[in-house]
Amino acid sequence: MKFAVLTEQADGETRVALVPETVGRLSRAGHAIKVQSGAGDAAGFPDSTYEDAGAAIAPDVSAALSSVDLLPLVGPPSADTLGLLPSGTVIAGMFRAAASEDLLKQFASSGLTAFSMELIPRIARAQRADVLSSQASLAGYKAVLMAADTIGKFLPMMMTAAGTIPPARVLVLGAGVAGLQAIATARRLGAIVEAFDVRAATKEQVESLGATFVETPAADAQAEGGYARELGEDEQERQRAVIAEHAAASDVIITTAAIPNRPAPLLITADAVKAMQPGSVIVDLAAETGGNCELTDPGKTVKIHGVTIHGPFNIPASMPLHASQMYSRNLNALFDLIIGDEGLNLDFTDEVVRLSCITHDGRVVFGDQDSLIPSQTPEKPEEKAT
Ligand SMILES: NC(=O)c1ccc[n+]([C@@H]2O[C@H](COP(=O)([O-])OP(=O)(O)OC[C@H]3O[C@@H](n4cnc5c(N)ncnc54)[C@H](O)[C@@H]3O)[C@@H](O)[C@H]2O)c1
Repeated sequence: MKFAVLTEQADGETRVALVPETVGRLSRAGHAIKVQSGAGDAAGFPDSTYEDAGAAIAPDVSAALSSVDLLPLVGPPSADTLGLLPSGTVIAGMFRAAASEDLLKQFASSGLTAFSMELIPRIARAQRADVLSSQASLAGYKAVLMAADTIGKFLPMMMTAAGTIPPARVLVLGAGVAGLQAIATARRLGAIVEAFDVRAATKEQVESLGATFVETPAADAQAEGGYARELGEDEQERQRAVIAEHAAASDVIITTAAIPNRPAPLLITADAVKAMQPGSVIVDLAAETGGNCELTDPGKTVKIHGVTIHGPFNIPASMPLHASQMYSRNLNALFDLIIGDEGLNLDFTDEVVRLSCITHDGRVVFGDQDSLIPSQTPEKPEEKAT
């Protein structure tokens, strides 16, 4: 099959969809890959590394797309790129399908078969393709480094000739993929870590990383698919009160709490921030969906009541080399499912292929993926891995 790799179009995007490692694999399997010159520069992969992996370098987008069957992307293609894609082209990227109705209509009217990587079901067999996990784990790691860089304190305990300095106290809210990585990173840096999540199952995971689980009076809020459900107003009030107590004693708070397709839950009120020690730091990883802290300014860093509050967007783009490498491996895992010996082989009875497909045959199928196999019963969903 013919692949193309392009420079990403979104502002601040530094990642590249395929890194030379994956290009080498595809090339050895007999596929042809054209890479737009400079596509990997921002991620640390110059053209020469792609050439060494077997790709041909194309001077611009239209040359890269002059004949293409499959276009892997990080984010959505520009309108110009869309206009260059022949009907029947397969594209795969992180398209945020649930919030991109117009984009999906454009894909469908262009006759594209599109896969949105964040829809890959989180089952054991598809873990290799799980972009939510690969990118969230980078974000959890980097959030701790951002806090450490801002705080003006040591994270570990230091015993020096000038006296002993106690370790910093880190509170992690939300112990999913990003939160667990933040806990592990803060522990490695020597901080005392507490963590909280509404899913009771996370207690053991938090403790296994050497952190203390913060207990709240709320009931277990694990919902379908292993995600959290939205809490009722009463439960949220009780939760915020407990968090405020722990926040006041913390030097750093990393917040990662999210509910699928809902605004981020509000966990830290303005009053709770006011009660924190001046010089403390909050890194709000939920900023893109509104933030877990009432005072977060999404996309910005602000200092309020002496507390620095980071509300970063697209943290993985600040670590583009490994973010791209992991993403590229995720894509390769999808390719393994949709490419057979004879080329493209779309088996929509496979739930991983079906549920990540958002447009096909001129139709938007997102939300109605079972229509991809109209005359058959969809296969039973597999057990979710933890
Ligand atoms: N391939 C797999 O099988 C696989 C891979 C990764 C994750 N998972 C599962 O997905 C789930 C979490 O994944 P995620 O990190 O993408 O989740 P996420 O990004 O949707 O949410 C982050 C965390 O926020 C928590 N949260 C939500 N509301 C909260 C609140 N009010 N207060 C505190 N915490 C709150 C959630 O419980 C979750 O742990 C877990 O069940 C995990 O085991 C499965």
